[in-house]
Amino acid sequence: MDSRPMLFFAPEIPMSNEEFRLLRDFVYQHCGLHFNEESKYLLEKRLGKRLQHHRLKNFKDYYYLLRYGQQKEQELTEVIDVLTTNETYFFREEFQLKTFTQEILPEIRARKEKAGDRRLRIWSAGCSTGEEPYTIAMLLLDMPAFRDWQIDIIGTDISQKVLQAARKGVYGSASFRATDSSYLQRYFVEAEDKYRVADQVKSLVTISHLNLFDTPRVALLGKMDVVFCRNVIIYFDLPAKKRVVESFYQRLRPEGFLLLGHSESLMNISNAFVLRHYVHDMVYQRPELAAPEGL
Ligand SMILES: C[S@@+](CC[C@H](N)C(=O)[O-])C[C@H]1O[C@@H](n2cnc3c(N)ncnc32)[C@H](O)[C@@H]1O
Repeated sequence: MDSRPMLFFAPEIPMSNEEFRLLRDFVYQHCGLHFNEESKYLLEKRLGKRLQHHRLKNFKDYYYLLRYGQQKEQELTEVIDVLTTNETYFFREEFQLKTFTQEILPEIRARKEKAGDRRLRIWSAGCSTGEEPYTIAMLLLDMPAFRDWQIDIIGTDISQKVLQAARKGVYGSASFRATDSSYLQRYFVEAEDKYRVADQVKSLVTISHLNLFDTPRVALLGKMDVVFCRNVIIYFDLPAKKRVVESFYQRLRPEGFLLLGHSESLMNISNAFVLRHYVHDMVYQRPELAAPEGL
């Protein structure tokens, strides 16, 4: 007799075009994530798991559960966790980080010192599992010029699952694919085949839950000197990109910087920023004075 365990595969539940539109619009309105017709299979596959979890027979029932169910908030959290792309690693985009430490930060420092202001506020918007805000913290700890400054690095994301990992701060090898070993030695503690980010680094970083489309909550963040929003707006359509970039403009102090991912630009999205050309990279800056109306 064959002693292998029998495997039962639940049949995949097909998503009708109507169900796709209902769910796609619902997700878009909540968080700006945009799924076109070609990515229907993605919603079908990822949300299919939630259907099975609730033992539902079709996606329409799932849609009603998500809209009107008793635990709709909690279910929405699950949806966000399965639909977001959370890829990230320490010291991602080396040239941009060189521009940040060698050109942008000295410029900010000189300007603020003149005004007697020794506070620096940096927002990592869409920080995923935390590698980005902790990278920024390590870079700043390595700069003696900021030693006696008050530094606040705020990492935010919409996915509760990645935020949990960010708060824990324990990372495996995939996170270190671009990390110089000297950082591992100085800013991490070994913990069972993994590495825990040192308290000194953590103390500069606050991790918070935030949906970039929750405008009133975004406004509560206060003013920033630099906003990192890398590899996040690629998942939004044009109106959603415009809305989020406008909120970055509002959060930035005059002459503050917006750092996007290397495949992202503000072309067709916003004319409100100036593109600054530095030695290693180009970055966007909010001008000192607002452009006159109509420009
Ligand atoms: C690919 S990761 C980028 C991580 C990091 N910024 C980097 O470049 O390495 C994109 C992150 O954006 C987050 N995200 C997507 N939509 C969002 C929204 N509406 N509000 C806040 N975060 C969002 C996702 O949860 C995900 O963790």
